[in-house]
Amino acid sequence: MADDLLGGLAAIVGPGGVVTDGDRSRFLNDWRDKVHGDAVAVVLPRSTEEVAAVVRLAASQSVPVVPQGGNTSMCFGSVPHAGDRSIVLSLSRMNAIRELDREGSAVVAEAGTVLATLHEAAESVGRQFPLHLGAEGTAQVGGLISSNAGGTGALRYGPMRDLVFGLEVVLPNGTVLSDLSALRKDNRGYNLNHLFIGAEGTLGVVTAAALKLHPALHADADAFVSVASPAMALELLARMQDRFDTAVQAFELLSGSQIRIVEDMLPAVRSPLATLPDWAVVIHLGDPDHQAGLRERLEDFLSGELSSGRVLDGVVARSTAQAREFWKLRHSVTEANLKAGFGTTLDASVRVSAVPAFLEAASAALVEAFPDAIPVVVSHLGDGNVHFIAMFLYDRDGPERDPAKTADDVQVLINDIALAHGGSFSAEHGIGRKLVGELKRLSDPNRYDLMLQIKHLLDPAGIMNPGVLFPPGS
Ligand code: FAD
Ligand code: MLT
Ligand code: ZN
Repeated sequence: MADDLLGGLAAIVGPGGVVTDGDRSRFLNDWRDKVHGDAVAVVLPRSTEEVAAVVRLAASQSVPVVPQGGNTSMCFGSVPHAGDRSIVLSLSRMNAIRELDREGSAVVAEAGTVLATLHEAAESVGRQFPLHLGAEGTAQVGGLISSNAGGTGALRYGPMRDLVFGLEVVLPNGTVLSDLSALRKDNRGYNLNHLFIGAEGTLGVVTAAALKLHPALHADADAFVSVASPAMALELLARMQDRFDTAVQAFELLSGSQIRIVEDMLPAVRSPLATLPDWAVVIHLGDPDHQAGLRERLEDFLSGELSSGRVLDGVVARSTAQAREFWKLRHSVTEANLKAGFGTTLDASVRVSAVPAFLEAASAALVEAFPDAIPVVVSHLGDGNVHFIAMFLYDRDGPERDPAKTADDVQVLINDIALAHGGSFSAEHGIGRKLVGELKRLSDPNRYDLMLQIKHLLDPAGIMNPGVLFPPGS
């Protein structure tokens, strides 16, 4: 049976497109090396037709299919479950930009296109693709769509869902659904594209996407400022949006505890502030007009905020290199936290105005339940998206803790608080294999049942990424 399958796969994608031996760890393990999977084969198709043929073959033998992009998922959605005898379907070789339309501000990219490559393609026609996150050198279009990624640009442009015109998808029975026409208006009944955005590979394989581009930015200004509290940061954001409107491209809140961890773990990365703040915000303004005088306007605005005491300290970047340093610190948090200890990163969202109350409640509950934990905060503040991190430093005294049990306990504690504040326990990272229990525990049963019915309708044999979103065998 396995030989039959492997022979069939090789006949479809060529012998070089089926990996059964050698170092397959980058496909089988998650990037943090926390979850280790196994698969009968890793398959790398080169075209939509090949994907469809692979899926048809897998369906005919009831072999589970795990679609994979850059394998940077935060919730283990792209790693096959050991023992499932599945195939990993890596889209990496499908990385062509099929169309680049400057007038229509659209790009049609295959699923394996790396985000950084998409940025370059957009720039080549004087446009930008505005999704930005720490993994942009690795994450791919298909993975970004399937996890509906957010990142720092979502404040201004929305998450991936807001950047998609249409998709090309191979359904679990091998048929191809194609909607790459990049129409700005189209009301032909249900918008099926949205079903696949954020579906985490459970409803089909995204093979290409028509995506929205925006005008390129020619004026930029970046600042790193300290504030007294999250409430003060929110006030600053509102005042900046009043003053600069859509030029506010990114506004990221960091706790002092997070900055300290980055500086302790990564000596080459430093905050530009003279002293360690309680709270800091990294700000990016951008404008398509190169004469916008943004830096001077930002300096002027921030000196007013300093005089009024709403901002405690701050540095406006004098060069692109200095701005890059600010953002290097912001995007180093994940790497630094991994080195510092065992941390449980939550991905909550609440109404923007509820962030301060949520943070206060979460921090208080955490230190009461786990006195050796340090509350660490990284927040896409303008989206109400808070990565609340319970950090247990390796060099800190405290009781012996089982990391897996602690992570589960912290998760339940903080997710309940997010819900009590009217929020969600999964803002941008998705569910994957990590939050399957939380999805069931915290969902409205009517919503959960409808999701399961949709899964059964599209994938009655349950071959697409089993164990992701729903428990295996659901
Ligand atoms: P993968 O990890 O390979 O897959 C993700 C999910 O999509 C899996 O369920 C997989 O089965 C499915 N999938 C992949 N390709 C396809 C396809 N073609 N068709 C159908 N299903 C598919 N995320 C954010 O939202 N915001 C951030 O700020 C952010 N920052 C990050 C920073 C770092 C340093 C890292 C490592 C990750 C970060 N992430 C962030 C998480 C991650 O980058 C995103 O979730 C990204 O969208 C995953 O893309 P990928 O190509 O690696 O997908
Ligand atoms: C981020 O915002 O940096 C990411 O979502 C990654 C993380 O949560 O660690
Ligand atoms: Zn994030």
